[in-house]
Amino acid sequence: MKITDLVGKTAFVTGAASGIGRAVATTFAAFGAKVTCADLDESGAQSTVEEIEAAGGTAEAVRLDVSSRVEVDQALDDAAARWGRLDVLCNAAGIFIDVLPSLAADADLNRVMQVNYMGSLYAAQAAVRHMLPARAGSIINLSSGGLDSPKPEQFAYVASKAAVTELTRCLALEVGAANIRVNAIAAGYIDTPMIRRGYVSGSGQLDEGRWNETLERYRRFSPLGMVGEPVDVAWTALFLATDMSKFTTGQTFRPNGGFVMPR
Ligand SMILES: NC(=O)c1ccc[n+]([C@@H]2O[C@H](COP(=O)([O-])OP(=O)(O)OC[C@H]3O[C@@H](n4cnc5c(N)ncnc54)[C@H](O)[C@@H]3O)[C@@H](O)[C@H]2O)c1
Repeated sequence: MKITDLVGKTAFVTGAASGIGRAVATTFAAFGAKVTCADLDESGAQSTVEEIEAAGGTAEAVRLDVSSRVEVDQALDDAAARWGRLDVLCNAAGIFIDVLPSLAADADLNRVMQVNYMGSLYAAQAAVRHMLPARAGSIINLSSGGLDSPKPEQFAYVASKAAVTELTRCLALEVGAANIRVNAIAAGYIDTPMIRRGYVSGSGQLDEGRWNETLERYRRFSPLGMVGEPVDVAWTALFLATDMSKFTTGQTFRPNGGFVMPR
């Protein structure tokens, strides 16, 4: 096995039906991992598996609601039993809500925290149980570039991602001695269905004019003049999944086109 690949390893990817999770799952598989593609959207997860298999990889699809601890525990146990081990978890399942701090209702806050934060926590806890006996593993959480550039309407979403970032740091401290690494990716603006949904009109069509204006604005924010693609996040996740990052834990990586540059 080369240090740059995942041959002989297995990965569990949540949110694998769409966008970033799908790109992470297909990339891990392309570099040799056997991948469990978990998502609330079962047919989407199945289509990711078909893409992986068509490219010669190995994967399975699982319907999973990450906000249920019972479902998450079962799905991680099943995946570890099926592949015989669990090396990598990538928590990419997530939802966005657009609500101002002064107007946020309990139901909005509970849902976004339950999926984005508790879902990541449940999966990380289950993964650690499988990784501890092996004394090896990599957990990769999707945080958000929104933490570096606050916007009032993103407050509930970004609060859930701030919690994910803190989970990343504290869990990294707890399990580092067992050679389990925990890192986060605070991606910038990535063109995915999650983002496009904000530009869909009442008729269900993408409002091309508004969407293109937004893309142009975000291109101007990047010194590279680019908006990210899911694969830009997947390459960062690949680095974190392989032994190339064996000295890296508790960190937050920022594939964001240079949109923000924190010290
Ligand atoms: N797109 C961006 O610009 C961006 C930037 C930073 C971080 N992120 C984060 O990256 C992750 C992936 O986002 P994306 O843009 O690819 O979004 P997406 O909407 O394209 O994909 C999210 C996936 O999560 C799944 N999902 C939602 N709720 C779930 C649940 N309860 N259980 C299981 N699966 C569930 C959806 O079915 C979907 O397949 C999210 O955590 C998001 O917050 C995205």
